[in-house]
Amino acid sequence: MANPIAIVLAAGKSKRMRSETPKVLHRVAGQPMICHVLDAVRDLSPERIILIVGDQAQPIRELLGESLVYVRQEQPLGTGHAVAQVKPGDLAGGSGEVLVVYGDVPTVTSKSLQDLLAAHRRDRAAATVLTAQVPDPTGLGRILRSPSGEFVRIIEEADASSAERTISEVNSGLYCFQADHLLARVGELTRENAQGEYYLTDVMAILRGRGERVSLCRIDDPSVVRSINDRRELAEAEQILRRRILAHLMDQGVTIVDPASTFVDHGVQVGEDTILHPFTLLEGATRVGRACGIGPGAHLIDTSVGHRSIIRHSVVEGTKLGDEVKVGPYAHLRPGSDLSAGVRVGNFAEIKNSTIGERSRVSHHCYVGDATIGPDVNVGAGAVVVNYDGRQKHRTQIGSGAFVGCNANLVAPVDVAAGSYVGAGSTITRDVPAGALGVARARQVNIEGWATRGKLGKSAGQQGPDAP
Ligand code: UD1
Ligand code: MG
Repeated sequence: MANPIAIVLAAGKSKRMRSETPKVLHRVAGQPMICHVLDAVRDLSPERIILIVGDQAQPIRELLGESLVYVRQEQPLGTGHAVAQVKPGDLAGGSGEVLVVYGDVPTVTSKSLQDLLAAHRRDRAAATVLTAQVPDPTGLGRILRSPSGEFVRIIEEADASSAERTISEVNSGLYCFQADHLLARVGELTRENAQGEYYLTDVMAILRGRGERVSLCRIDDPSVVRSINDRRELAEAEQILRRRILAHLMDQGVTIVDPASTFVDHGVQVGEDTILHPFTLLEGATRVGRACGIGPGAHLIDTSVGHRSIIRHSVVEGTKLGDEVKVGPYAHLRPGSDLSAGVRVGNFAEIKNSTIGERSRVSHHCYVGDATIGPDVNVGAGAVVVNYDGRQKHRTQIGSGAFVGCNANLVAPVDVAAGSYVGAGSTITRDVPAGALGVARARQVNIEGWATRGKLGKSAGQQGPDAP
């Protein structure tokens, strides 16, 4: 069977959001709300997707690209007016069915759209409305049914009597229409209602008045229809989506010690037997392999982690980690870093745009920037790669098996060759050849008896102003 055409509405103002940003671009669970909606719609392989956009079209088009058909609604005069902007030609082809989806319902699932389409086909309806029974229907359109349960009309809250407001079955903003019925009736809408808008919901009443069949498809899970009109609802949708993501990961074999303090973005992948400890955030294009321990307190952004790695109390951005890498506590790995298998990066270490070879250690209080470090290197406590001369960044190479002593400064560009040593406290400005010891620090002088000399008439151990 041919597939339906989808119309997604995204031209409304963000009035209740109180925002400069178009409502559908507000982020929920790691991506703009419209992307969640389009993901669900795309799962039904629609013939085409028509997106209704308003005067804030530019950022929406930039985000979504040209794979959609954009239709402009010059003024946001209501959901019915939005759909009326679609030209009959845009609805030609496909199965003759049109799914209409409001862009502010990011919790919509492809399953709910499939159920809607199936109910519409089963009932051979002119239009079908997806509905749900919700605990708090405030702000939503209520479903009026006849005593026998048939559809009568949808009434918006602003137009509803106090008796009608007690109805808890609401309009989800997800519909399926026969294209010819939709095209024939959408032009008949008027603005004679409390909000002075063209309501798409009135098309259903018009169809019913003409004796056409309008079906209702009620779903059991009200979270599917959590539309977002203000920031409170944004937070509620965020919770619903995050709970779904975590439930999916747990079904895939991931242990989540405390779901309430674990935040995983849409699209993040986590392998089997990995444990996510409390206060962990996995964001963007992050992928974590199998049997890792992530957290407590790990914040990963656009990062890929191999298998059996451990990251505790650290921030890791734009980094690639191999297998059995240990990071933290309290490390900061910045974009462009690549840590091979078995690397350890420890307490208060910062790594930026650097490659670190297998089994190398950068364990304590270090800064490594713009460096290429070979395998089996030890970077001692407090060592710093001095990558910036005030104007430009330069690179440093540290060959395999090299040993950089504590508190050394490696002033880039510099090459510490394989198997060489850098003495603790050295400021290295010239290359250290393979196998050599590079030392660059003042020799120690011990002044015998200085402390007990009593030169300044002070007791032993107190330093005077001419102390060396
Ligand atoms: C709408 C429904 C209501 C339903 C609720 C579900 C109508 C009249 N009411 O109310 O019955 O319970 O959704 O979420 O349809 N839009 C445009 N152009 C416009 C107006 C809106 O594109 O001129 C878009 C918005 O960007 C939004 C969607 O349509 O994505 C819904 O509009 P919104 O103003 O949020 O409608 P609700 O008041 O929530
Ligand atoms: Mg809405």
